[in-house]
Amino acid sequence: MAKEKSIFTCTECGGTSPKWLGKCPSCGAWNTLVESVAEAPSKNRYQSTKNGLNASQPVATLSEIEASDVDRQPTGIDELDRVLGGGIVAGGVVLIGGDPGIGKSTLLLQALDSLSRNLPTLYVTGEESGAQVALRSRRLGLDGSRVRVLAEINLEKITATIDIEQPSVCVIDSIQTVYSEELSSAPGSVAQVRECAAQLTRTAKSSGTTIVLVGHVTKEGALAGPRVLEHIVDTVLYFEGDTHSSFRLVRAIKNRFCAVNEIGVFAMTERGLKGVANPSAIFLSTHGDPVAGSCVLVTLEGTRPMLVEIQALVDSGGPSPRRLSVGLERDRLAMMLAVLHRHAGMACFDQDVFVNAVGGVRISEPAADLAVMLAIQSSLRGKPLPRGFIAFGEVGLAGEIRPAPRGQERLKEAAKLGFSVAVVPKANAPKKPIEGLTIHPVERIEEAIDLVRSL
Ligand code: TYD
Ligand code: MG
Repeated sequence: MAKEKSIFTCTECGGTSPKWLGKCPSCGAWNTLVESVAEAPSKNRYQSTKNGLNASQPVATLSEIEASDVDRQPTGIDELDRVLGGGIVAGGVVLIGGDPGIGKSTLLLQALDSLSRNLPTLYVTGEESGAQVALRSRRLGLDGSRVRVLAEINLEKITATIDIEQPSVCVIDSIQTVYSEELSSAPGSVAQVRECAAQLTRTAKSSGTTIVLVGHVTKEGALAGPRVLEHIVDTVLYFEGDTHSSFRLVRAIKNRFCAVNEIGVFAMTERGLKGVANPSAIFLSTHGDPVAGSCVLVTLEGTRPMLVEIQALVDSGGPSPRRLSVGLERDRLAMMLAVLHRHAGMACFDQDVFVNAVGGVRISEPAADLAVMLAIQSSLRGKPLPRGFIAFGEVGLAGEIRPAPRGQERLKEAAKLGFSVAVVPKANAPKKPIEGLTIHPVERIEEAIDLVRSL
């Protein structure tokens, strides 16, 4: 018997290679090639569908194509609607990723229950039995829920059920457990995940059903299976947050139907996930008196300003001092320490520096720089910043402080929550004073450091 031909597939990007290599030739990731059996291409897999994905269509002029704004169906869970851009879209495919146990199944079951009051819904579970899902729904207080449940992992049977049930919304929990009979590789393999996602996307487009795929993430935090999943679907959401704290963030990474970067904030309670309408309060720790090494940042997530406490600890280190950051970029931290040294004369090269964004939130915007640097200087000097103090602004390598987008909104949010002193980039200083808030505009980092010393 002829030996079965094997190929090596990258678990990151889905690229293939005829022999094993340490580095993926397609995406450059290391140690991601795994052996799999080469699949013979099956015929007619990409037949034209009802909507005619492959059927030849006449070429049209853009302005002549009728385009009405997509209709969105709110899920009834406000924070989820916020990241979805208002609700689900008929025929749209949403991918939702996150660590195990973070609450993906819980949130989707709650959303389906809420949607099922008006629409037919289907929950396909490949990880739990129907009884387990039922038990969870009772625990969530969703008695008498009208959600239809199917415990199945065979793709062909799932698509057949979607054809029969005609749900408006269908959740596949999870895409890694589903397998197609057409392929011989195991469920969860790159080929299977990619094929199943593509087939389900075709089903969504042709039937108008919104399909929500649950995806697992790897140890590194990326969606397991090929990155290509992110290209196939319309919307990608990530669940973030520390499983030890009860707060969870859902972040939109990609959305073909609206702006991205929105985040939804939830709290995990005894009765499932509850939306948090005013998230600023949870990212501030409650100090009686101001403490050294803490500075409150006003960050902007999507359209919503949020207050987050940044904590820094500077402590004498050994011969090779450490720089660690939780929730902030470490490379950026090293850069800020260099700027502090060069432009403001604050040396940390013999000190361990730790920084942390409270509450498990991840901050990627450069407007966090100033708050981080002020927290570091506060810890280094052992002097707390004044009570009710906030800061934001990007710091450049030349020591200049650059404006942050939508400064006014940030300041208004801070004033609303009772903060009274702000250090902000000069270009963000409002023309009209904001009641209750003393604003100190600064242009350079040394100016900001001198200013907080005198406050
Ligand atoms: P789950 O939705 O099963 O996570 P995922 O599908 O992302 O793997 O979440 C399970 C976790 O949530 C589990 O650790 C228990 C917790 N939980 C609550 O705290 N309250 C609840 O009402 C429910 C249903 C779960
Ligand atoms: Mg689950």
